[in-house]
Amino acid sequence: MDGRHGGPAGGPAAGADSVLAEEFARRLAGAEPSRLAAAARTSVGSLHALIAALRPSSEEFRLAIDFLTEVGHYADARRQEWVLFADVLGVSSLIEDQNSPRPAGATPNTVAGPFYRSDAPLMPLGASISRDGNGEPLAVTGVIRALDGSGVGGATVEVWHANAEGIYENQEPDRQPEFNLRGRFRADASGAFGFATVKPKGYALPSDGPVGRLMALLGLGLERPAHIHFRASAAGFETLTTHVFDRADPAIGRDALFAVKPELMAEFRPLPAAGGRRRHALHVDFVLCPEGHNHTTDSGRR
Ligand code: BEZ
Ligand code: FE
Repeated sequence: MDGRHGGPAGGPAAGADSVLAEEFARRLAGAEPSRLAAAARTSVGSLHALIAALRPSSEEFRLAIDFLTEVGHYADARRQEWVLFADVLGVSSLIEDQNSPRPAGATPNTVAGPFYRSDAPLMPLGASISRDGNGEPLAVTGVIRALDGSGVGGATVEVWHANAEGIYENQEPDRQPEFNLRGRFRADASGAFGFATVKPKGYALPSDGPVGRLMALLGLGLERPAHIHFRASAAGFETLTTHVFDRADPAIGRDALFAVKPELMAEFRPLPAAGGRRRHALHVDFVLCPEGHNHTTDSGRR
């Protein structure tokens, strides 16, 4: 037996986990230094440490390979199980936080997700984005601001959300009208905007594949609390892509995507019912970060 693999009593020698990883790193050292080589070195080091800590049996290793193989089989042009896997591990949100840090006082950025469409039509302020009228009316008002609190006149605001059943228009193009619950608005000179819509329902990420099975085995949910997606852009500012969550949603503390942050929770305020229909109002303020802002002192996840 090679001394690298067994200690005196047949168990692993102290630090054996790092020997092969170090040998991998040594072999890499001969290659051109590159980001890829650095990533490979760090990943292999972490993987070997993980294996040393968990000590999986051969059977467990095979199960892990089978799981990853199945994830691959569930990934195609319509379904991306790898992205779903990254989402439920918190990896997608961590990468977003790292790549889009925001200074204190600015609205946090979040992932856009798979349901965004860049071609939503420009609509007049106050228009309704509910193109089928189904659901409880919701009046949304908001202001796009700079860090100093001043309004950002003429900012573009894109919005998209799921319907009252928790389904996006592009998930069921045969049942919902084109661009249902999507729109693009131009804020007025004071940065204010508003539109009419219906109250969205939360929904669950797909549970019918290997990631859903893994989450069930772990006793973890796939729920996303009810939310509205926004993207705000204006010359001289970093584009903000974010969510506003219904703070009353029972799933607010267990978003499968880890995107909920205190600044992104809001009250969908009940209004007096009209014609037997419940109605709601939501006000949102978004604070944009100036382009070229020095992020070195920003914290990531707050
Ligand atoms: C969404 O809320 O639209 C979403 C975002 C990321 C992953 C899955 C769904
Ligand atoms: Fe969503």
